[in-house]
Amino acid sequence: MIAFTLNGQQVEFAGDPETPLLWVVRDTFKLKGSKFGCGAGLCGACTMHLNGKAIKTCVLPVTVAAGKTVTTIEGLAGDHGLHPLQTAWITHNVPQCGYCQSGQIMAAAALLEETPTPSSVDIDRALSGNICRCGCYPRIKAAVLAASNSEAGAGDDEPALFYDATGQGGQA
Ligand code: FES
Ligand code: FES
Repeated sequence: MIAFTLNGQQVEFAGDPETPLLWVVRDTFKLKGSKFGCGAGLCGACTMHLNGKAIKTCVLPVTVAAGKTVTTIEGLAGDHGLHPLQTAWITHNVPQCGYCQSGQIMAAAALLEETPTPSSVDIDRALSGNICRCGCYPRIKAAVLAASNSEAGAGDDEPALFYDATGQGGQA
């Protein structure tokens, strides 16, 4: 039996300990916000938080989560409402098809937890493993910058930058 905390609730999984965490969360606990994209740790659609760190769960055996805290997009909003990133995502009308978006937001949330006012390069690095086939990168980046402003309560004069999926950075 593998026990862990999922979005604040104690849960137990009695199946194969090698089952990827993504499938346990989706199939056993019926939280479908985290997506299956590549299944190889390459696209980030399956990103959740494990003890607060962004992690790709399609290649992570559920046994690694034993005794730890898992947060999915469904658990990101707090008692006081949406996470600032979720609000910024709405304001900036970020998604196109939406498939990658929970992973993008979870990766960005882990970044803001560690680095509340990230630089443009910080954002590029943190999101370089999250692919958006619709090419929403400029809006994703603008939303992360907006959310970081809102969290820090301070201004940020950086323009909305081109997001380079290779993680090399760049400005349009
Ligand atoms: S589905 Fe996990 S990284 Fe692509
Ligand atoms: S919004 Fe379609 S893949 Fe990102």
